[in-house]
Amino acid sequence: MTPLIEVLEERVRRALASRFGEAGANIDPVMRRAQDERFGDYQSNCAMGLGKRLGRNPRDVAEDIISALDVADLCEPPTCAGPGFINFRFKPSALSDRLLGIVAEDHAAGEDRLGADRTAHPEIVAVDMSSPNLAKEMHVGHLRSTVIGDCVSRLLEFQGHTVYRINHVGDWGTQFGMLVAYLGRTKPELLQNPDDLEIADLEAFYVEAKAVFDRDPEFAAESRKAVVALQGGDPITRKIWKAFCAESLRHCHQIYQRLDVTLEDRGESFYNDRLAGVVRTLRDQGLAVESDGAVCVFLDGFQTRDGQPLPMIIQKSDGGYNYSTTDLAAMQHRLDELGATIFVYVVGVTQKLHLEQLFAATRKANWATDAVRLIHLAFGSMLGKDGRPFKTRQGGTIKLKDLLDEAVIRARKVIDDQRTRGSTPDSSVPETKSSTFTSAQIDHIAETVGIAAVKYFDLCHSLGSDYKFDVDSMCSLDGNTAPYLLYAYTRIQGIGRKAGIDFNTIPTDIRLVLEHDTEIRLAKSLCRWPEVFRQSAGELRPNVLTDYLYELSKSFSLFYDRARGVRVVDARPESTRLSRLRLCDLTARTLRLGLGLLGIQTLERM
Ligand code: ARG
Repeated sequence: MTPLIEVLEERVRRALASRFGEAGANIDPVMRRAQDERFGDYQSNCAMGLGKRLGRNPRDVAEDIISALDVADLCEPPTCAGPGFINFRFKPSALSDRLLGIVAEDHAAGEDRLGADRTAHPEIVAVDMSSPNLAKEMHVGHLRSTVIGDCVSRLLEFQGHTVYRINHVGDWGTQFGMLVAYLGRTKPELLQNPDDLEIADLEAFYVEAKAVFDRDPEFAAESRKAVVALQGGDPITRKIWKAFCAESLRHCHQIYQRLDVTLEDRGESFYNDRLAGVVRTLRDQGLAVESDGAVCVFLDGFQTRDGQPLPMIIQKSDGGYNYSTTDLAAMQHRLDELGATIFVYVVGVTQKLHLEQLFAATRKANWATDAVRLIHLAFGSMLGKDGRPFKTRQGGTIKLKDLLDEAVIRARKVIDDQRTRGSTPDSSVPETKSSTFTSAQIDHIAETVGIAAVKYFDLCHSLGSDYKFDVDSMCSLDGNTAPYLLYAYTRIQGIGRKAGIDFNTIPTDIRLVLEHDTEIRLAKSLCRWPEVFRQSAGELRPNVLTDYLYELSKSFSLFYDRARGVRVVDARPESTRLSRLRLCDLTARTLRLGLGLLGIQTLERM
């Protein structure tokens, strides 16, 4: 369904064309949400620029446009304000029509989209996400790429694209030589029987090995030898390497499962056989040249600090390949074999240069045509509460598992407190008592809310900025948090139970009665969903979605507020009751859909 904002834009364009001819048709209507809702819902700001260009008073231009506007089916008569803003306010009847259209559409399709559009041009998308370096357990630094990558994948899929979620794990680095060498020292018998390899604590094993590596040059040399053996295909070393990778991936997938994230492991080693080909191709194309013994690609616009050309090295002077070579091979694979035309790299902002070089090389080599979109979705760091890099007290990295556990414990406490205080954020629905839950149910609720809190907190920050991990804020029942939204959702389910109604049985064609201020405001929030979805999927910005869901929940709270809102469960006449229950239902469905796209499951009770 075309978002209302775009319907208005189109109407303004038509008015511009009728008043200003061809020149008018190309003018951007500059449609925005109204700055102040007292003036309306949307405003077009095009009259100011146009007035300037025509040498006319912008207010006159605005009045001119208004006289040519045909929006009577949607809005009250538009008004001109300030220096020449054109204000639009929707008629309740138009909101009602629209929402009923959405109900009918979803009912017919048997799927909730709530008016969210599908793309007219489905493409194949490669989302490069999570991608930890193996041999260690996942730590906090891997959360963002995983959670953001998952959300973006869900958005693109919901638009109708085919999405590959690719876990480009670092499974081929020098760290494996170190682990193999350390195993040789500590458990030499395993070198004979690599199948028996079992490591209770991979993380501790890694830390011990690293400590020896750092202080013992002889061991460092053994490690390098093991790397050569690995890359040379030595069967025992390979077997041990495989066992380490499998063990490490097992840890990762425990976390993915907990986060409800699915992805495909395709480690760096997968591209091994293609690396020589990449270098050869680029050499043949004349793009890669030898420089100081290494093979390099020089790209326009890349310079060192002192103005020297900055090469992208693709083969080191010892003949070895590197991170860039692997990424070029991966790019080729995704282009040629997956057929991807949209590439989204969900990678921290610290790798900006690497990805810029990768994209530039891919373009210059003509592997990616103009029709291919290459996107680095760069995100900032997660910091500790003190604003410093997030570390344990001893200065070590924090395991992702521990961080999730902490959030779940905190969520459980918040929910418990809430219950013992006997009030929900909305005390008119004191329906669920802790005694009605089994302990398994409470575990499930705490886990769901805790994980949701972590994800939501991550996604509600704008991507590029750093944020402070703050368990108290993210688990709070007030404010822009997952627990608040999950509560709003369960509250509505509670209203349904209290009203003794299954929302699905409300007839699809009942008219919506939109009279009370809070009803109209809620209807407007609901009508905005198609616009929000289009923007957040189009710009790959999860926080557009979180901001909206929060706003929607607040509109709902006001609507259901005892003092300022309306009666619902016992509203009279029946047509009004059904209309309000329909608004409840639409709110719940929008929340469920929106949260689902963020990768968050709703609960029926909590
Ligand atoms: N393994 C890398 C790291 O931990 C991230 C990989 C990102 N993806 C890529 N295609 N380079 O830093």
